[in-house]
Amino acid sequence: MGLLITGGAGYIGSHTCVELLNAGYHIVIVDNFSNSKPESLNRIRRITGKDFTFYNVDLLDKDGLESIFYENEIEAVMHFAGLKSVGESVALPLRYYLNNITGTLNLCEVMKEHGVKQLVFSSSATVYGNPDSVPIDEGFTLGATNPYGRTKQMIEEILSDLFHSDNEWSIALLRYFNPIGAHKSGLIGEDPNGIPNNLMPFISQVAVGKRYELNVFGDNYPSRDGTGVRDYIHVVDLAIGHIKALKKVLETKGVDAYNLGTGIGYSVLEMIKNFEKVSGRKIPCKIVDPRPGDIGICYANPVKAKEELGWIAYRGIEEMCEDTWRWQINNPNGYEEHANLTITNNNIIQEV
Ligand code: NAD
Ligand code: UFG
Repeated sequence: MGLLITGGAGYIGSHTCVELLNAGYHIVIVDNFSNSKPESLNRIRRITGKDFTFYNVDLLDKDGLESIFYENEIEAVMHFAGLKSVGESVALPLRYYLNNITGTLNLCEVMKEHGVKQLVFSSSATVYGNPDSVPIDEGFTLGATNPYGRTKQMIEEILSDLFHSDNEWSIALLRYFNPIGAHKSGLIGEDPNGIPNNLMPFISQVAVGKRYELNVFGDNYPSRDGTGVRDYIHVVDLAIGHIKALKKVLETKGVDAYNLGTGIGYSVLEMIKNFEKVSGRKIPCKIVDPRPGDIGICYANPVKAKEELGWIAYRGIEEMCEDTWRWQINNPNGYEEHANLTITNNNIIQEV
């Protein structure tokens, strides 16, 4: 029996594949490399010393998906594949709705045709929109504020409807907070295309000399130092959370949402300090206007995942920064080892 991992070449998927292979699961990965590189699959093999079947198939290609289910005995699916950039989703909403929603509908239809009804889905804390209070628990009203977030919220609703139409389904909706960090080997990590949107890859690219300085988006939020607060979670803790959720969906029926976070919030300035400490590098930064659409303070109440999945995040902020730094320093150009790039003081990448 095998597990199908959609988006397994990506950041969170690759770390989860390592944990699954190390735990003895037989996996099949599908990815179209729209936001990842084939090299990440080689690295998964290198870390684990194990092999797996890979399909370069787009979830929009339903026939391609069907052949995966014909050729493999799939017992359950972990569904990471999706586009994830908030800003891009505002500019290209149709691309996001098509890729994320139609991709998921195709996947569920093929699963249903093959009698596979166990699913772990990558949702996001973004479904909560701007919460009235923190910590955020799963019962909070949902209200995503951008097309990307709405794809996640809509998919959650679709999957709930699916369970209500057929109680044989078992679905875990995992609402990730802010995944950062990398595998201890320094062989896999987050490899964003172009200029990173997210804080941690930006900080680490400044530290390694690829970017000139960090813009801190706003210092007037109601936090300790006025900068935005998030619940950063080590990607390996997140990966382990998927294995716990998988066990739950294999043992029970139902549809349930779980926050995967630490329950602790750190501000942007605190993240910079932590990163400077572990890397020994100065992170030049300047305060600029808040990023449109950003929320001030966001952290999880992770108690439901602890009680129902037996999962807790163990890795602290220092380890998250150390592991991010190891990945960054070992792979300054991500998986493109031989790329010869440098950065000007306007954050423009130039080939040298
Ligand atoms: P990622 O972009 O690194 O990985 C997603 C993978 O899916 C990529 O390898 C991409 O090539 C693949 N993919 C996308 N569309 C596809 C399609 N139509 N067919 C086949 N493959 C496709 O992203 P990630 O950070 O690993 O995130 C994984 C999931 O978790 C995503 O669904 C994302 O929305 C969600 N999530 C991520 C974060 C975060 O901050 N990283 C936070 C909350 C939720
Ligand atoms: N920030 C900066 N400068 C930057 C980037 C970010 O100051 O260059 C600040 C933001 O304003 C925010 C914090 O750093 O206060 C974290 O920002 P990220 O962009 O890293 O993360 P977000 O919480 O905004 O969003 C991320 C993902 C979403 C996901 C959400 C919850 O981008 O897709 O986490 O999981 F939905």
